[in-house]
Amino acid sequence: MIGSFIKKKKKEIVLDKENIPEHIAIIMDGNGRWARKRNLPRTMGHRAGVEAIRRVLKEADKIGIKYLTLYAFSTENWKRPKDEVSALMNLLVEYFKKELAELNKNGVVIRISGDITKLPKIAEEEIIKAVEITKNNKGIVLNLAFNYGGRDEILRAVKTIAEDYKNNKINLDEIDEDKFSNYLYTCNIPDPDLIIRPSGEQRISNFLLWQCAYSEFWYSDICWPDFNEEHLHMAIYDFQHRNRRYGGI
Ligand code: FPP
Repeated sequence: MIGSFIKKKKKEIVLDKENIPEHIAIIMDGNGRWARKRNLPRTMGHRAGVEAIRRVLKEADKIGIKYLTLYAFSTENWKRPKDEVSALMNLLVEYFKKELAELNKNGVVIRISGDITKLPKIAEEEIIKAVEITKNNKGIVLNLAFNYGGRDEILRAVKTIAEDYKNNKINLDEIDEDKFSNYLYTCNIPDPDLIIRPSGEQRISNFLLWQCAYSEFWYSDICWPDFNEEHLHMAIYDFQHRNRRYGGI
């Protein structure tokens, strides 16, 4: 049969360099399912997830993305079994111990969204060190959401604004959307243009609730540990063919 001799040619994805999203945020989902399919412990899925972080960060930087936010540990993830929680904390520490010098050499700026004071001391210290060492770099901003929850972030902002109001540091008429954004963990980071969620789930899971107001969403069935450069290109390609109207026509 002639058809069997014709190999299907893969469609080449050509990105429009003039329309690269400035900020991409990713819900790194599916590590557990990836591991289960391979009869591996869930923690191996998270470890493979760190490999995907390396790939995607490098490619995002190459493409010209300015901000990459990764949802690594939510305020709800404390409900997981103790050994999974501590494996995730250890992975974070290991990541910075192994990669900080390289990240710094490549000009990456590390930012954290989330309450790191509740993390084990060693994880908190590694984060503070990474943020401090990279703060004056000029490259891509890697914003890791760790012990992060969107509702928690908004509540904190509201409480701090209330304090500032009580202490006469802010007037009521000064509080607008821009001012409010300054009270969030993502202060000075533009809202995400594109939010990616792999693994087949299609929900926001308490991620960037304020910031996602006009984000485009991209879902896929790929589990995060399998996510690669090509998937990132596919997501950006789709994004470039959306019509963003911000409520206009
Ligand atoms: C969701 O998949 C994933 C997480 C809760 C953890 C993501 C963390 C990493 C990829 C590594 C963190 C490390 C650093 C260096 C930031 P899941 O476990 O819920 O997967 P499942 O839905 O298939 O069970």
